[in-house]
Amino acid sequence: MRTLTQSLSQEIEMNARRKKPEDLRSHRWYGVNDVRAFGHRSRTAQMGYSRSDYAGKPVIAILNTWSDINPCHSHFRQRAEEVKRGVWQAGGFPVEIPQMTLSEPFQKPTTMLYRNLLALEAEEALRSYPADGAVLMGGCDKTTPALLMGAISMNLPAIYMPGGPMLRGNWRDQTLGSGSDVWKYWAELRAGNITDGEWQEIENGIARSPGHCMTMGTASTMTSASEALGFTLPGAASIPAADSRHARMASDTGRRAVEMVWEDLKPRDFLTAGSFDNAVTAVLAIGGSTNALVHLIALARRAGVPLTLDRFDQLSRSTPLIANIRPAGKYLMEDFFYAGGLRAVLAKIRDRLSLDERTVNGKTLGSNIAGAEVFNDDVILPRDKALVASGSLAVLRGNLAPDGAVIKPAAAESKLHKHTGPAIVFADYNDMAARIDDPELSVTPDSVLVLQNAGPLGAPGMPEWGQLPIPKKILAQGVRDMVRISDARMSGTSYGACVLHVAPESFVGGPLALVRNGDLIELDVAARKLELKVDSAELAQRRAAWKKPQPRFERGYGALYQQHVTQADQGCDFDFLEGAAPTAEPEIH
Ligand code: FES
Repeated sequence: MRTLTQSLSQEIEMNARRKKPEDLRSHRWYGVNDVRAFGHRSRTAQMGYSRSDYAGKPVIAILNTWSDINPCHSHFRQRAEEVKRGVWQAGGFPVEIPQMTLSEPFQKPTTMLYRNLLALEAEEALRSYPADGAVLMGGCDKTTPALLMGAISMNLPAIYMPGGPMLRGNWRDQTLGSGSDVWKYWAELRAGNITDGEWQEIENGIARSPGHCMTMGTASTMTSASEALGFTLPGAASIPAADSRHARMASDTGRRAVEMVWEDLKPRDFLTAGSFDNAVTAVLAIGGSTNALVHLIALARRAGVPLTLDRFDQLSRSTPLIANIRPAGKYLMEDFFYAGGLRAVLAKIRDRLSLDERTVNGKTLGSNIAGAEVFNDDVILPRDKALVASGSLAVLRGNLAPDGAVIKPAAAESKLHKHTGPAIVFADYNDMAARIDDPELSVTPDSVLVLQNAGPLGAPGMPEWGQLPIPKKILAQGVRDMVRISDARMSGTSYGACVLHVAPESFVGGPLALVRNGDLIELDVAARKLELKVDSAELAQRRAAWKKPQPRFERGYGALYQQHVTQADQGCDFDFLEGAAPTAEPEIH
């Protein structure tokens, strides 16, 4: 624990750093006496503000990803007002700046294609406008990493306001979870066990309030990771969107943003190897989405902190999965909140955490989780009753994935953890969609389904196609899980023996491109192995015959994307956005 001397010296350092009004970044826009500042002030007056509303006050940019097309953020107009209330109360000047939304249910081919665009937009919005600090409003899957990536690169005082999960879904007397129950009942519909009418009832009950998906999907995973990283107020990530405590958290977040500016507390002041370890450990303890690997690696590279796939595997071996939340467990995020939420989970595994890491409230993670209690130990399990004692996530390597691949063993049937079977290869998503239910497909429960060209460049955008559907004729045999391998990602709400993120991807000539029907593939989770059982001479011949596919885009954002996106093991960021080099301030003419 931190000693008294360390705490005192930190306080002295913070006081020395405390800003004065003329030190504010916005002073260059508003506080000087030149014709440009006249323009800035007269245009602020045009919006109905007096000088006393903003003079000498921190300008807090509220980056809001609200949109009519994003149901997960449908409460964000109101929440922005609550953030503003907090900013005003603390003596700041709130400025809401809309950002592109990344709406998981609607955006094609995948929001992942646009994560880096939102990150770039957030960085440039903060850079080009007179922001002294920022409140980042996100929640739906990619919005969290995107906003954090932009904020880390700009490195102004910034705090994250997680959107909060929606309430439990409901159908008749059943509780429904986002994603997980879609896949479950879709399989039942395909197997003929429920009717079209029942399927429609499920459609109308599965999402019944504002908020992001309420299973432990990518959204809850990444908002929890952002809290463990130190980017939110303590407890913020677990509060359901519809709960009045969420509105109060929004005001508290606005208030805190103003103080962070005076204290000059910036992301790279608290993002360290230890805080990233905390985020990874939190993700493992809650049974988080495999998407966290890609996003946390991207965030770390922006912060100049080394984080590799192997570190995830290392931490996984000693972290128990204790949040009994779907898809790995039984409950939903609403239950998780009532049971004590993320703070309670972190308190349970405090010996696995780096407790001295600082957070946005100026305190350490250790102090933020002090006194956190579990109120329902069937939702947040005691460690000796963990859902998975260790190894809830595994990084695989082998001749099929030289740069790594990932599997979530806890979400797969255990008999498939060690499995060798013949490949059934689909050249791309359309090929898979056209043939998966073909009665002539020579598939058995032992087959290994392989999907090529679904990675960052091949798909493009590395969509969540990794949970290939089980062929109808196999479903009819009562089988619900098979080994599936792809260079795609998988929704955090999905489950199954799905090997994901195979790197390098098939589109750039990774070994996945060389797999043919009938090749034997060996998966051995305990040995962290993924092997294509084809001899190297044959593989060399196939490689020589392999032809590089045509680029997917001729122009536009897609062309920029395909030129600069990195592979999954490196976080899929744009190469020119990585790194912690300082971002140049704009000239003000
Ligand atoms: Fe927005 Fe799932 S659709 S979080």
